[in-house]
Amino acid sequence: MRDYNQPSFDGFDDINNPKPAENDFDAIVESAISRRGFLSGVLTFGAGSFIMGTSPLISTAEAMTDSFGFQAIAANTFDTITVPEGYSWEMLVHWGDPLWSSAAPFNEVTRGTATSQATAFGDNNDGMATFMVEGHQLIVVNNEYTNRGTIFGNREKGKPETDDDIRKGMAAHGISVMEIAQVDGSWQIVQDSPWNRRITANTEMLLTGPAAGHSLMRTDADPSGTRSLGTWNNCGNGQTPWGTYLTCEENFNGYFSSSDDALKLPPRFTRYGIGHKDWGYAWAKTDERFDISKHPNEPNRAGYVVEIDPSNPNSTPKKRTALGRFKHENAELVLASDNRVVVYLGDDERGEFLYRYVSDSPYLEGQDTSELLAKGTLYVAKFTDNQRGAWLPLTPETTGMSEAEICIHTRQAGSIVGATTMDRPEWVAANPQSIEVYVALTNNKNRGKKTNAGGDATPVGGPNPRANNRYGQIVRWIPDMQDHGSDEFSWHIYALAGNPDVHEDDRAGSANINSGNMFNAPDGLNFDTQGRLWIQTDGKYSNKGDFAGMGNNQMLVGDPTTGEIRRFLVGPRECEITGMTWSQDRKTAFVGVQHPGERGGSNFPFGGNHVPRSGIVAITRNDGQEIG
Ligand code: FEO
Ligand code: CA
Ligand code: CA
Ligand code: CA
Repeated sequence: MRDYNQPSFDGFDDINNPKPAENDFDAIVESAISRRGFLSGVLTFGAGSFIMGTSPLISTAEAMTDSFGFQAIAANTFDTITVPEGYSWEMLVHWGDPLWSSAAPFNEVTRGTATSQATAFGDNNDGMATFMVEGHQLIVVNNEYTNRGTIFGNREKGKPETDDDIRKGMAAHGISVMEIAQVDGSWQIVQDSPWNRRITANTEMLLTGPAAGHSLMRTDADPSGTRSLGTWNNCGNGQTPWGTYLTCEENFNGYFSSSDDALKLPPRFTRYGIGHKDWGYAWAKTDERFDISKHPNEPNRAGYVVEIDPSNPNSTPKKRTALGRFKHENAELVLASDNRVVVYLGDDERGEFLYRYVSDSPYLEGQDTSELLAKGTLYVAKFTDNQRGAWLPLTPETTGMSEAEICIHTRQAGSIVGATTMDRPEWVAANPQSIEVYVALTNNKNRGKKTNAGGDATPVGGPNPRANNRYGQIVRWIPDMQDHGSDEFSWHIYALAGNPDVHEDDRAGSANINSGNMFNAPDGLNFDTQGRLWIQTDGKYSNKGDFAGMGNNQMLVGDPTTGEIRRFLVGPRECEITGMTWSQDRKTAFVGVQHPGERGGSNFPFGGNHVPRSGIVAITRNDGQEIG
């Protein structure tokens, strides 16, 4: 039997690296919460401007001219992509498609080898961005991880059996850099482009910033503590104004294991879920650096934001330790009023924190940018129930830790200053049309019940208002003085996801959630140039019980002003929709389909008995207008 029961990363950590049992909170008082409008901090949008759901009276022609530009679609459980009337989709690339003409095409029987995978698009694409380099359009895409039942679906148990299998898995991770072009109206990868590149778990990286060279970063293979091999579990992304790509290492812990079962696990391992067992990848079998009993500092060299220059295929990616070490979701980069670089960062784990990095120096076009992500200050968010919040600096003075230690043991530093434990911060997105920022807090079944791995309490309240939070919420904050450099902000809840068909209490969601647009587990957030918020989901797709009527994972669009949310896309079965970018002319939106058929129930996109393939969908408007 193929093993489709691979747990989620969180599920894995729950089983193998369990958190402390119960919060000691006699004090958690669940106030009588009535539906909608009930919780402090839930924004009520201006009456009159707010439309509840989709009006059947809106004609398609009218819908194309309103601020959304489309008529909402219904939830469904089809094994395909659904987009609104007036829009079309096609696949740009799938897992295993070769980037060079000399490379082997994807083989459905073997599902590739280490050699073919190293020259092909990686698996489970996530964050991505486009770049224009010397008149050529490039797309840079994270390949976050692999599903054993899919990539090793040729093996009887759906697990790696040979060293080549393990190396194939390593090559399916990382980043794919590809030139793309529209040929006869159809998007394609430009094979053999000089910019095409695969970055994998074995590509050399440069460690930069305060932690580079520190004794905690040194290993037998790298006594200098400045060069590491590879990047993996690359989740969301960011993009800089100086033309580089930021890739974010998330569940890096699940690849390490110990050959010594008796190895004692110190807090520096347990806080990050690094334990005796890996997540089933078996990387330590072919590469000893993943054995923590032999190389205990190796995990300190993962869990960072990595900067990549796509214009130079020979450049060495730079791990930016100044942005902290945690389970990075994405890196939303904006400029403060004085042009200092501000990067908002989420740590996606139950009860972990939200961060902000501010560079020491301003970004000045045409000037040296090499130190902007190396020298600066990291802050962590503290929310208060009065709709206010502050960024607490993580410095030697506030934490008692050295600068290097703050960059390596960042979660511990956040705990010391009393940061707010969050409901799993996923993507952060800043509105280009106004100074406001959104974070998706995807869900947290431990809210109000268990501490985080550092023992910090997870009280119900503020931006995390529901115990046993199964649906998630989107929180918005507005920096004081309209400046991302301000150390204080106001906040409120933009959307509290829920199911108003099933529940009448706070699980029904906020007023802008209705039968026609309900969803669970908001995850990817991306703003388009018009200031529309695109919301992607990574939730339960059972379409039953608490999740009845929500269908497959999907993408919606939110209006920041009115609060209205409309469903734009429904993905195929058992997928997550994640990662979004646009062509340089804004006429195509690229959207990621990750792990279709993660439980064996999809054959997307080719149907029949074909192997399900993650990939990128290119969406256009039939009238040829811009899509955002
Ligand atoms: Fe890779 Fe938190 O999602
Ligand atoms: Ca995510
Ligand atoms: Ca997620
Ligand atoms: Ca996923």
